Amino acid sequence: MQTIKIYDKEFTPYITDAEIQDKIKLLAQQLKTDYADKKPLFLSVLNGSFLFTADLFKHLTIKAEVCFVKLASYKGVSSTGNVITAIGLDTNLSGRHVIILEDIIDTGKTLHHFLPQLKTQQLASLKIAVLLNKKEALAYPVQVDYACFDIPNKFVVGYGLDYDGLGRNSKDIYQLKES
Ligand code: IMP
Ligand code: MG
Repeated sequence: MQTIKIYDKEFTPYITDAEIQDKIKLLAQQLKTDYADKKPLFLSVLNGSFLFTADLFKHLTIKAEVCFVKLASYKGVSSTGNVITAIGLDTNLSGRHVIILEDIIDTGKTLHHFLPQLKTQQLASLKIAVLLNKKEALAYPVQVDYACFDIPNKFVVGYGLDYDGLGRNSKDIYQLKES
């Protein structure tokens, strides 16, 4: 793998496609154990989670459903003040075991602002599963229940994650190069 350039920034190889797929398979197995007879509803947060959601779903062997919302708070390489709900919830979640799927938890702001919308419905349970967990960056009280990778507080792209819209179509994950 080689360094890639997106706009003005250089990124170095960080997590390979194979490592990602291995962790996602493990997560699918864990969910099979935890949700065997619960027919969970996966709530995927667009845009960044589309590949993670698709790959996880392919490995799930239990009965499960999926739906999507689109939330955004990022511009460039840092979080903005606002969380925008670009596509809202259109599914009835009452009585359901819901698992939120996020590509990455950074400050936790996006989910912290979104979670109250779910609390108005009577969910059977709610858990959060993420591909990448930037633990050190967490600034809001959001509890991550399943994380494929704990990563340091550095900007990453690839495998669904973007830098100003680009970089999502890479199988591997890259980390912003120190300048
Ligand atoms: P938070 O609200 O600060 O937790 O940020 C969550 C959202 O910001 C994620 O769902 C991503 O879409 C985006 N994000 C956070 N960190 C990164 C990163 O390192 N690269 C690309 N997108 C990121
Ligand atoms: Mg996201």
